[in-house]
Amino acid sequence: MKLYVTNQLPINIKDHFTDSDIDVHIAGKRPDKKEIIEHCRDAQGIICLLADSIDSEVIDNCPELRIIANYAVGYDNIDIEYARKKGIVVTNTPDVLTETTADLAFGLLIAGARRIVEADEYTRAGNFKGWRPDEMLGTDVHSKTLGIFGFGRIGQAVARRGLGFNMDIIYSSRHKKTVDFESGYVNFDTLVSRSDFISINAPLTDQTYHRFDYNTFSAMKDEAVIINTARGKIINEEDLVRALKEKTIRCACLDVYENEPEIQGELKHLDNVILTPHAGSASLKTRREMAEICINAVKDVLVRGKEPDVCVNC
Ligand code: DGY
Repeated sequence: MKLYVTNQLPINIKDHFTDSDIDVHIAGKRPDKKEIIEHCRDAQGIICLLADSIDSEVIDNCPELRIIANYAVGYDNIDIEYARKKGIVVTNTPDVLTETTADLAFGLLIAGARRIVEADEYTRAGNFKGWRPDEMLGTDVHSKTLGIFGFGRIGQAVARRGLGFNMDIIYSSRHKKTVDFESGYVNFDTLVSRSDFISINAPLTDQTYHRFDYNTFSAMKDEAVIINTARGKIINEEDLVRALKEKTIRCACLDVYENEPEIQGELKHLDNVILTPHAGSASLKTRREMAEICINAVKDVLVRGKEPDVCVNC
């Protein structure tokens, strides 16, 4: 059998398959769709990244595929319904990256509020000439309202961090959640108008696509900070640029972009923006654990003949 892996992962994948009859092929450079198809025509399994589009065209051209293991918790890059119709199991990597992603979201939140990136550049440039009452004034984090859009595992982990800063937590989500701390389920409009900070932690779906547009930004507080560690397409980036230029909101802290890896030139030139390279899950431990989950899922399907716990279309 053949397993195609579209990128090196921070673990030696081949070592994990020495005791099986699975040949592991790891891409030397990032494959495009055509190359994925070429390599997967005769493969039973693929481990892919969130940047790989595994749509009906790929699936139709890879008739032997039995498992698509996505090296990410989000799986909007895969046509999971079409895969189900073709009897292909799709898996993701939940849980292990929850706290790691929430750490980055909260780090960005503080950095946005207290202008940490700007302050670093300012200090390195030799602008710090002695303590001044009006230098690098930001906004407080503690005791403010943190609005969370999407209250699944990661959203709740961000909320727990907010509680440590004595923040009021409100959230909007498809459903009201029962969680072990007091938090306020509100509708989307209330979330937008009441929050000092909005953290986006929802999956990308037809319902969340461009959920944040110019009207949304206009309804936010002037001092609001928006943090997106989920998926770039949840924000209409062109509208965000307009809102940031007009200072409709205070700042945007973005880890994800509408057309990754492209980042709008204008975004890169605004000083009320902090940009990171889709690094929510980027700790070595977490990235290794994500790889282990993918390997285990592939073995479940191809070796053990069982449904993986992390199946998203079973
Ligand atoms: C995911 O797993 O979906 C993240 O975006 C990757 O860090």
